[in-house]
Amino acid sequence: MSQHAPNLRIPVLRRVVVTGSAGFIGSRLAHALVQAGTAVIGVDRRDAATDPLAAANLAPLLGQPEYEHVTADLLSCAIEPHLSDADAIFHLAGVPGVRPSWGPRFGDYLASNVLATHRVLEACSRIGLARVVVASSSSVYGPTDGGASVETDSPQPASPYAVTKLAEEQLCLAYARRLGGPSVVALRYFTVYGPRQRPDMFIHRVLHAALTGKPLHLYGDGLQRRDFTYIDDAVAATIAAGIAPAARGPINVGGGATASLLEVIDIAKSLVGREIRLHQGPAPNGDIVTTRADLTRTSEVLGWRPHVDLHSGMHSHMEVLACQLGASGERPDEPSLASTHRLSR
Ligand code: NAD
Ligand code: UGA
Repeated sequence: MSQHAPNLRIPVLRRVVVTGSAGFIGSRLAHALVQAGTAVIGVDRRDAATDPLAAANLAPLLGQPEYEHVTADLLSCAIEPHLSDADAIFHLAGVPGVRPSWGPRFGDYLASNVLATHRVLEACSRIGLARVVVASSSSVYGPTDGGASVETDSPQPASPYAVTKLAEEQLCLAYARRLGGPSVVALRYFTVYGPRQRPDMFIHRVLHAALTGKPLHLYGDGLQRRDFTYIDDAVAATIAAGIAPAARGPINVGGGATASLLEVIDIAKSLVGREIRLHQGPAPNGDIVTTRADLTRTSEVLGWRPHVDLHSGMHSHMEVLACQLGASGERPDEPSLASTHRLSR
């Protein structure tokens, strides 16, 4: 666990289901819940025996008495048996990523993000599960004028991925409005980073480039801004959404400040003490220029706010990645500045 790991006491959640538990956010959420004494059933279609990324994500969980893992595809598996006696489901399984959603994989996005979610909701309704927390996305907002996005803003998804995430959250909210439906919280996560971030994502790639000396592919001019959210903050907000009695509907989960990609590159350079070779290319279709979360409703309803600033979060992320690269023999030399930097909160 990183030094930012939340110290959570979770009296209300005895037993929960986490889907996508072999993924980045799901595995970290499952681990935080287990550490707090909640019994967790994790469901994911990736198999730790054959998928090294899933194996790394699941390593802290497998073997823990409070954690039970089910390798299964939500498109076809029996879901209800896992839900019986659960207080809540955290439905994080899905196919993420804006850029590949334009290609032939769209069917996979649709299947996992919409059809699998429909199966989850049917199962929740049949057994009368009280609370569903679903992973939505800041991408549902689409292009902004640079100002903060509020949950009541009209969504304008600008990529096939974002369309499926909007369909997913709206499907969940439709089930919530149905008589006897579960109460649903749709968390609109804003670009989450930290140790074990998906390797297709920007901060992982910047730190990887800084640590290995390999080039970084920068899409566009680097002036895109993101409300980067540290993983432990995202996990704490997710757990709060499973507990807070008044939590309903869409809720933003953002890091509390935006930074441009060029600023992220500068932080990585200073943390590692090395220049980063840039290969610049065009901005991808559907790439949003600025994401920024309005956190008013989040703090009112969840009693949550982010704690980890970008420099501090990237420092933790970099330290874990450096260890992983060292263990795999991928890192050619030692970073020169990493150990001299102090954490600032
Ligand atoms: P991830 O790819 O690391 O994890 C998703 C997991 O879901 C994977 O392990 C995958 O195997 C599993 N999965 C997909 N389809 C499945 C199916 N049909 N049955 C069973 N398991 C299935 O992604 P992540 O970054 O951890 O994102 C988790 C969720 O949060 C996703 O729904 C994503 O859309 C959403 N989200 C992520 C971010 C972010 O910055 N990482 C931001 C906004 C929203
Ligand atoms: C991320 C996740 O990948 C989505 O699954 C999620 O839904 C979304 O956040 C969200 O907030 O809702 P994105 O913001 O595109 O999407 O995050 P990154 O993949 O980390 O990309 C951030 C920026 O870096 C983008 O402008 C992208 O074009 C750029 N980038 C990414 C590069 O310049 N080079 C790369 O190698 C990767």
